[in-house]
Amino acid sequence: MTGLNPEKQPLLALVNRETPLDPAGYDKKGGWRGLRRALGMSPAEIITEVTDSKLRGRGGAGFSTGMKWSFVPKESSKDRLKYIVANGDEMEPGTFKDRILVEGNPLQLIEGMIISAYAIQARHGIIFLRGEYHLGLERLQQAVIQAREAGFLGENILGSGFDFDLHVHPSAGRYICGEETALITALEGRRANPRAKPPFPQIGGLWGAPTVVNNIETFSNIPHILANGTEWYLGLSACADGGTKLYGVSGRAKRPGVFELPLGTSLGVILNECAGGMQDGYKLRAFLPGGASTAFLGAEHADIVMDYPTPEKAGSRLGTGLAILLDDKTSPIGMIRNLEHFFAQESCGWCTPCRDGLPWVERLLIAIEEGRGTPEDIDRLHDAARLIGPMGRTFCAHAPGAIAPLASGLKMFAEDFQRMVSKPTSGTAESGAAGQA
Ligand code: NAI
Repeated sequence: MTGLNPEKQPLLALVNRETPLDPAGYDKKGGWRGLRRALGMSPAEIITEVTDSKLRGRGGAGFSTGMKWSFVPKESSKDRLKYIVANGDEMEPGTFKDRILVEGNPLQLIEGMIISAYAIQARHGIIFLRGEYHLGLERLQQAVIQAREAGFLGENILGSGFDFDLHVHPSAGRYICGEETALITALEGRRANPRAKPPFPQIGGLWGAPTVVNNIETFSNIPHILANGTEWYLGLSACADGGTKLYGVSGRAKRPGVFELPLGTSLGVILNECAGGMQDGYKLRAFLPGGASTAFLGAEHADIVMDYPTPEKAGSRLGTGLAILLDDKTSPIGMIRNLEHFFAQESCGWCTPCRDGLPWVERLLIAIEEGRGTPEDIDRLHDAARLIGPMGRTFCAHAPGAIAPLASGLKMFAEDFQRMVSKPTSGTAESGAAGQA
């Protein structure tokens, strides 16, 4: 992207979605500096530096990257099989940041993965990419070949004695593949069901071997930390954690998109200063701060910074960092119904509350939206949120994530729900969603 300052927006500064840089061009623009420095350090020194940089996972959960790497058994890559995996299964509705990184600067991701592999002493890496990212797949495959030809992948990388190679694996297309244990199961060629944790993948991951899974944006930060140091990296942020963040908005903004900003920026700044504000004639009513599986916040909360919780401060507002806007002319019930349709369709079908509960929630919402719902249907939605939402009722976090916009929406948009069920109805209570369940 042109016009960006590499000192302030390192992740996007070299992104070029027309023609991404080749290894030599990337070198000329300052690429590979992090890798060259890292290969002169010990793996333990790199892990310490990444921990000190306070980089937290950018997939949504925000786990400390350096700490995650520190859990991996310390044997050298020649003595023990280990894997490094990039999670690029970006299927969260409204989230499209990793796509820009792989299409516009795949070498930044590759450099980050080589450094990470050296730090945990893994010889094999896999980039697991969302199935629909056809251009990203093409660009990544080409970049891997070019990096190999230029000596950045393969045996004895840059004469360091370290061997590492990478493969790109397109997803067959399931939302749950983005959950790291389901992703690992999919890579093993089996149905993508999540596994119980512990063991965490760092101990028992792909084919039982120690495996680090990090998001594409997380890996893309690594070259910059190694090239410029932790002080510089901490200085990029506006909060206690390090770095910039790819934030974004979709919905009725004038210029929806992805923007690189200090970690700890508020939606108000992202929307008004980067995305041009709301389109003429529309007002912001509420937003999902970081993808579809987060809870609604009202427009009055647009000044809350989107960062991670710390021991001193609870409550992450971040998720993936890409907000979905609800304007004053769009039905919140329609928006929630649309999201629940997605989640119901993507349930793997293993656990009953998720497999049967989410389609039932969707039917109730359709009935209410179409004016066929009853006040009891709203009670049923509350019951569903209470029964399906808490963690632990289902094996993985799919259903709790799916319930987040519903549970918060039922509270925030209670009047809209009431209005829809108090209208003169076109059918009877029996013809409502409960009757169809
Ligand atoms: P999680 O908190 O279970 O795990 C996050 C990471 O930290 C994992 O790599 C895990 O191995 C590691 N970890 C956590 N506790 C650990 C421990 N005690 N020891 C060692 N390692 C540990 O969260 P999860 O389920 O992986 O991710 C949930 C997030 O994913 C949500 O916040 C949501 O926003 C996001 N998400 C993102 C999507 C996308 O397309 N980017 C899609 C769906 C959800």
